[in-house]
Amino acid sequence: MRAEGLAGAVRDLREETREHALQLEQVFRAVGAEPSSNLSPPAETLADHHEQLAGAISDDRLADVFHAATAIATEHHALAAYESLLGLADAVGLDGGACGLLERNRDEEARALERLRGELPRLVRALAERS
Ligand SMILES: [Fe+2]
Repeated sequence: MRAEGLAGAVRDLREETREHALQLEQVFRAVGAEPSSNLSPPAETLADHHEQLAGAISDDRLADVFHAATAIATEHHALAAYESLLGLADAVGLDGGACGLLERNRDEEARALERLRGELPRLVRALAERS
């Protein structure tokens, strides 16, 4: 069941990300590669930057807007990565099953992005109304 609000969205998206990682492992194995757990430098930078700035925000409503904006940036990054991977998969003739997993992940990233974009205006209004 889909949880409501920003916290619910973030919880759901974390779970979805775990499933994406498992599917990516299958794609690696489909091309004869062993998956590893290397972290993405851009993703790490985003996470570090978010942690630093979030710690300096004492206003809960402003923090919610900031968390939503960061989550949107993260989903944009993931979506762009899947688009590139799908282009590469097409170029090397990756089999349909593995391509299907990449497409499924890409489509879920796109839905996640839309969900977060849907949360942001409500959070911004809540911040503005309080001021
Ligand atoms: Fe995602």
